[in-house]
Amino acid sequence: MRLGKPLAFALLALAVVGLSLAAADDEHTRRYQRPKRLAVPADAPQLWKDECASCHMLYPPGLLPAQAWRQQLDTLAAHYGSNASLEPEQEREILDFLLRASARNRLPVEPAQTAGEPPRISQTRWFEHKHDEVSAAKFRRESVGGPANCVACHRDAERGDFDDDRVKIPR
Ligand code: HEC
Ligand code: HEC
Repeated sequence: MRLGKPLAFALLALAVVGLSLAAADDEHTRRYQRPKRLAVPADAPQLWKDECASCHMLYPPGLLPAQAWRQQLDTLAAHYGSNASLEPEQEREILDFLLRASARNRLPVEPAQTAGEPPRISQTRWFEHKHDEVSAAKFRRESVGGPANCVACHRDAERGDFDDDRVKIPR
């Protein structure tokens, strides 16, 4: 089929508008939504899923800047009072993945409030900002289990979905 010239121009114009809308959306995301990429990459290694979700939920890499993950992986023997150490080559594989998958998080590394602990997601300024309307009492509920247990309220947290349309605080 041959398109008439006016129709072809109209389609081209639509495509250009579509592209610039997509670019504007990306720009918006870049400026206001921090950390920047929360969706867990599809090629995430099984080793990470197994080892880093055996005591708590699996934290999407985009939640912390790369240097914070480095501090996590460098201190696994003294991990918030637990020993989470791994074989050196396992540590390296997980660290490589975390560094790569968090590369778009440009937030500064913020130390944990307890001396000697590696950085926490639940004690970053953006976390506090996102939850300034959630009371401490709600985080303390037994059904919640503390601010670090994102999955209690964000069902799909382990896939990196924190959309506030789907959030539900359990009773
Ligand atoms: C042996 C158990 C264990 C293993 C294995 C483990 N963790 Fe943890 N992790 C903990 C404990 C305990 C805490 C502190 C929980 C709390 O205070 O609510 C914690 C907390 C964390 C936090 C901070 C959560 C917050 O408050 O924001 C991160 C991030 C984290 N772990 C990452 C990892 C990664 C990455 C791995 C895999 C290399 C891992 N953990 C493996 C026990 C473990
Ligand atoms: C007690 C339940 C609860 C827990 C636990 C919780 N959140 Fe939330 N979160 C909420 C609620 C409620 C909102 C919506 C707040 C609002 O809109 O004022 C929210 C909002 C968010 C948002 C913003 C979503 C958006 O669409 O703008 C992000 C990101 C987020 N949480 C991440 C996390 C992470 C990461 C964790 C774990 C480290 C976590 N949350 C733990 C209840 C929780």
